[in-house]
Amino acid sequence: MKITLRVWRQAGPDQPGAMQTYQLTDVNESMSFLEMLDLLNEELTAQNQEPVAFDHDCREGICGMCGIVINGAPHGRYNSSVPTTTCQLHMRSFRDGDVIDVEPWKAGAFPTIKDLVVDRSAFDRIIQAGGFVSVNTGAAPEAHSVPAPKRQADAAFDNATCIGCGACVAACPNGAGMLFTSAKITHLSKLPQGQPERMRRIKSMVAAHDEAGFGGCQNIGECAAVCPKSIPLASIGQLNRDLMRSLFKADGK
Ligand code: FES
Repeated sequence: MKITLRVWRQAGPDQPGAMQTYQLTDVNESMSFLEMLDLLNEELTAQNQEPVAFDHDCREGICGMCGIVINGAPHGRYNSSVPTTTCQLHMRSFRDGDVIDVEPWKAGAFPTIKDLVVDRSAFDRIIQAGGFVSVNTGAAPEAHSVPAPKRQADAAFDNATCIGCGACVAACPNGAGMLFTSAKITHLSKLPQGQPERMRRIKSMVAAHDEAGFGGCQNIGECAAVCPKSIPLASIGQLNRDLMRSLFKADGK
């Protein structure tokens, strides 16, 4: 396949960025999108040019490190029946001769570091604010010692699949991180172990979300349309219900 790439190049956080055009003539349709970028970087390196910086780690759709806006859609998918991460997107999704725009996540809370790499540590700060169970649980308990209804357990698991890639933020016109925050909160609030700190957790995590510079949610739904793990918009509804309850709890816990 021959493809034309228009890639966002930016030397550093305070440098101006611009799209640069590259031609690739030997792309195999079985390559993943990141392998195609590897090919581009090999060619750039051979020409003594600076390779394109991009994030990746597992390349199996589980770590959340990869994140590129492809033709205007985070991870290159929008309302797809097969939602994927960038590393699981294959070149067979494109046609010979295609022109592909490649950009980083662009959001106020995710400043660009270089080229396609952005700083997503704002997500870490939300987790540090309460996205965990802090009681000492000792050794691993017997699997069935804390029974959880199946529907609750399934909902907790569905939300636990969030990999924190940030596609939801990149897609949101407001740059909100509510789908991520709600997935982390809902994951714990559906399980018995998450109850003791439930109200304190939500107030603290939502405050950390706002302090990090994310925008507010207006239920537009772009986040859920691009989420590679299909986290539902209903999780934000759960977050809002819990937040209201927490604000009326007299003891603030
Ligand atoms: S590199 Fe790990 S999810 Fe894509």
